[in-house]
Formats: sequence, C-alpha cells, structure tokens
Amino acid sequence: MISKRMSEKLNAGSMIRKMFEEGNRLKKIFGEENIFDFSIGNPDLEPPAEVTLELMNLINHPTPGMHGYMSNNGYLSTRNAVADKLTRSGNTTFSPDAICMTVGAAGAMNATLRAILDPDDEVILLAPFFMEYRQYIDNHFGKAVIVATDEGSFLPNIDRIAAAITPRTKAIIINSPNNPSGTMYPVSTLESINNLVNSYEQVIHIISDEPYRELVYDGQSVPPTQDYIDNLIICYSWSKSLSLPGERIGYTAVGPRHPDLDVLSPAIAMANRILGSVNAPALFQKVIEKAMDVKVDVALYENRRNLLYDIVTSAGFSCRKPQGAFYLFVKSPEPDDMAFSQVCAQHNLLVVPGSAFAMPGYFRLAFCVAESTIKGSSIAFTAVSKHYGLNAQ
Ligand SMILES: Cc1ncc(COP(=O)(O)O)c(C=O)c1O
Repeated sequence: MISKRMSEKLNAGSMIRKMFEEGNRLKKIFGEENIFDFSIGNPDLEPPAEVTLELMNLINHPTPGMHGYMSNNGYLSTRNAVADKLTRSGNTTFSPDAICMTVGAAGAMNATLRAILDPDDEVILLAPFFMEYRQYIDNHFGKAVIVATDEGSFLPNIDRIAAAITPRTKAIIINSPNNPSGTMYPVSTLESINNLVNSYEQVIHIISDEPYRELVYDGQSVPPTQDYIDNLIICYSWSKSLSLPGERIGYTAVGPRHPDLDVLSPAIAMANRILGSVNAPALFQKVIEKAMDVKVDVALYENRRNLLYDIVTSAGFSCRKPQGAFYLFVKSPEPDDMAFSQVCAQHNLLVVPGSAFAMPGYFRLAFCVAESTIKGSSIAFTAVSKHYGLNAQ
C-alpha cells in the first residue's frame, strides 16, 4: 500500500505531463513533423560549447576525490564563483556562506521550504504560477494560499497580497520572468513587495525563483532582486540558461540583509542533505564554476517568441508579448480552457490549459521548440481560430 497522500497525487497527475504524453502518442500515429507540441518547457537548444569543453576537460584531467562527497552546501570554489557572480550582477555583496548548491531550482525550493516551514504555515503563491510549487509546499506540510495577479499585466497586486497575509504567513514565492506569463517584475514591484513584508513584525521570506533570469528579450535585463528585497532567498538553476535541466544543478542564495541570514544558510544545507540530495552533483558544480558568464543564445529564443507571437495574434488570439522566459500565455477563446485544449489536440496542436497554472481561461505555449514546429503550427492555429470564429488578420 502506498500512502493516501501519494495516491491522491498519483490520481491528480500533472496536466503538463499528460499533454506531453499525449504528444508522444500523437507523434507515433501522425509522424513527428505533423504534431505541434508546445506543452513542455524542455529547452531544445544544446548547452553552449563552453559547457561541453569544461566537461571534457574534467574527464580528461581527473583530480583525486573529484567524485567524492563534499560539504552539504557544495564546493567552496563553486560557491565563491556564485557569490562573485551575484555580487557583480547588482550592488549587493554576497558571501559564499550564503550560498548552497542544490539539485536544480526544484531542489533549491524544497530545501528552502523544508528550512522555513512548520506544519500548517502558509506560503503565498501569485497566480498564474508554476504548479509544482503546490507540491513543494505540500511536501513540507505547508499550506498554499493563492492570490491573483493583476489581470492583463500579471503583475503582483500588493493590496491583494496584504489581504492574504496572516500570522501563519511564512513566505511569498515570486518568479520573474514568470512561467507561464513571461512577465518581468519592474523595480517598483520589487520595492512594493519589500515595503509590504517589512511592515510586518513576523519575518516573511521572499523566495525568488529565478531560473529564467537570463532569458529576457528586447535588450532588457532583470532587476537584481538582491538590491531591492531584504528577506530574500534566491532559488536559481542552470536548467534553462545553460540548457542543463537533466543535470540538476542550481543554488540557493540568502540575501545579505536577511534577518535570519546566520541560521538560514546552515538550515538549507541541512535540508539539502536530509531530503536525500546530500549535495548537488559534484561534476556539474565544477562545470558551472567555469561557465558563470555563459548562457545559451537568447536571440534564438527571442526569434522564436516573435515568430510564435505573430502567428498566434494573426490568427486572432489575444496575448501579451512575453518579456522573458520561453512561454506565451494566451487568452482562451472559450472560458473552459480544458475543452479548448482538447479542440487544439484535434488539430494536432498541444497546449497546456491555464488551469494548470491556477489561471483558467488561458493556455500556455512553450516556444523552446524547433523553428520548423513554430512555422508549421500556423495552419493549426488558423484552423482552431476558424473553429471559434475569431477575427484572423
Ligand atoms: C518557474 C520554474 N521554477 C522551477 C522550475 C524547476 O527547475 P529545475 O529543473 O531547475 O529544478 C521550473 C522548471 O520548468 C520552472 O519553470
């Protein structure tokens, strides 16, 4: 027998994964080139050459103990490189002691939540959000409290967040650029969030999930959260910026002005260990140490964004042009986004309903797919548009 909690989770499943499996099924029947699969955020770009070269260098010149355990928070040399990178990216100085190397952003968030939550503590989520957050909170017996962002901009609404804060509120999770909306928070939003949490006596942690920090378009860059937020815990991973999601490498960084700085870092490192990761993968700590200033060719994603945005909006759908990440979050022409995604599937178009991000009435398209898939999908979007009688251009 498995636990009741786990059997509930198995029954619920993940909508994104379901669409992904459906895509694989359809590809077998109709051929890969005839299925337009925008369901999953699995980067299609290969990691930059620097990553492969450093990997080869490590394999060809092994050092004794390179596959052994190290401190639970990771190699000091790697944490130094991360602290240095964060310090260079804003006006805030980080110490390597504030860094814990983790198993991706998911590992970073789980270690963080394990470190701060007591049972029934509340964590505020800003819809739309990456649905796995709910599972991460539940893993550590916390309670997710969902707060809607502003319609249209998807920016956090400070009054609504304030209304949701209770004495049990332990954290707010922010994510910019955002999955699924692609929204990037301006400095004023970060400042407002900071002022809000600082007006409470209890410590409310701001967990900033930043795996898309480098994936921003139109010559913009993401404001460094560490310059604007005091109670900050950054969760980062190289899954997207270096296309390494399978290698599971990331970190947590506690902001230097965080009132719990001294205890938080050791608590996160302990959580990292006892959750079963023990430490982040040794080889990839060493690889990313040498690739701090490297990223995938963001211009390729920008081009894909432009292509897909033009196709979708020309077909008559309504959508905000994403500023970052690799998703388009589009208004569903019918309120039932699940029914809409089924209509799409009948046209070999795979999308994820907005309900999977606590935002019914929308759908998400991941554009980290081949340009040929994006170009080919135009026929399918036009057909779905016709089905709903939209005003195509
Ligand atoms: C917003 C967000 N946070 C966290 C993750 C998990 O990232 P990782 O694979 O590095 O654990 C993802 C993955 O898609 C994501 O989109």
